[in-house]
Amino acid sequence: MTSGSETVATLVVRWQAAHGRSHLPWQQTRDPYRVWLSEIMLQQTQVATVLEYYERFLRRFPDVTALAQASQEDVMGLWSGLGYYSRARNLHKCAQVVVSQYGGRFPETVELLSGLPGIGRSTAGAIAAFCFSQRAAILDANVRRVLTRLLGFDSDLAVAKHERELWAHAEALLPTSDLHRAMPGYTQGMMDLGAVVCTPRNPQCLTCPLMDLCVARKQGQPEHYPVKTRKLIRRSESWWLLVMRRPDGSVWLEVRPSKGIWAGLHCVPVFAEWALLQDAIKTWGLGSEDLEDIEPFVHVLTHRDLHLHPIAATVPEGYIPKGAGHWFSPEQWVQAGLPAPLRKLLERLV
Ligand code: ADE
Repeated sequence: MTSGSETVATLVVRWQAAHGRSHLPWQQTRDPYRVWLSEIMLQQTQVATVLEYYERFLRRFPDVTALAQASQEDVMGLWSGLGYYSRARNLHKCAQVVVSQYGGRFPETVELLSGLPGIGRSTAGAIAAFCFSQRAAILDANVRRVLTRLLGFDSDLAVAKHERELWAHAEALLPTSDLHRAMPGYTQGMMDLGAVVCTPRNPQCLTCPLMDLCVARKQGQPEHYPVKTRKLIRRSESWWLLVMRRPDGSVWLEVRPSKGIWAGLHCVPVFAEWALLQDAIKTWGLGSEDLEDIEPFVHVLTHRDLHLHPIAATVPEGYIPKGAGHWFSPEQWVQAGLPAPLRKLLERLV
């Protein structure tokens, strides 16, 4: 697609150099370890939040070998608060595979990168483009929006065939020359356009370098894109949380099962029904005079609203509940991999 002799790629690369983001720490490097870490953190999390976690993570694990050798516990602890914890588990696994199968050097192609744990096609494309200047496309939610609008692509992206077609368009639009400079610039430019110009609502078309080429703009309804019919089905669920604390500030924590919500994180005992919590209170010999109902609150996950109902119990120093958990001292639970809402709750209660 051209505008005179200007291709989409040229326009995006030039716009990125003049108006895009250029001071983010992961843009100052072509080290795949750093770029990979930033891409995984940025998948579901805002740049401002990632900045803080990114630097802390790198201080603790400066390279892929250090991360591969870390304990799962330490990795989860550093991830705590970022959410979507399967990212952290895959990150750890991926580091171990890079060390054991690739001698500690990330592979350079999309095919090999996307075979690694937690690296999908778009993340593989970003690493290949940023670090190795490969002609690799990305198609995260932001770029999907930019491209469907630019092309007036109105097929339903919930259909795999249409998704493949959009990937083919994304590849056809990639830069064809000066790849060492153009591929990182173009890739970052598409991300930046999606993040700050071609936004879901009120896109800033007048500042867009692709304005004259954009089909959605000509049609006058950019917000119509991308077209997606399959609706996310939201469910609600209630959890009763038994927060047992000792006078020294210790909290009883168990490890969540390896599948499902908060998998592998530390958590207070969870009960799916109020009656089950009551049974446990009886079995564990907790006196009702020691129990305190805490104001319930809702924690919003991607597919679910979790209604959390905490009950706080103060137990004597020597008390050991039945069940597979441990007492965590205040220094220990602060370090542990906890779901963010539980951390906030404990900070309030203990
Ligand atoms: N989101 C995903 N990747 C990004 C990057 N490299 N810069 C800013 N935001 C991003």
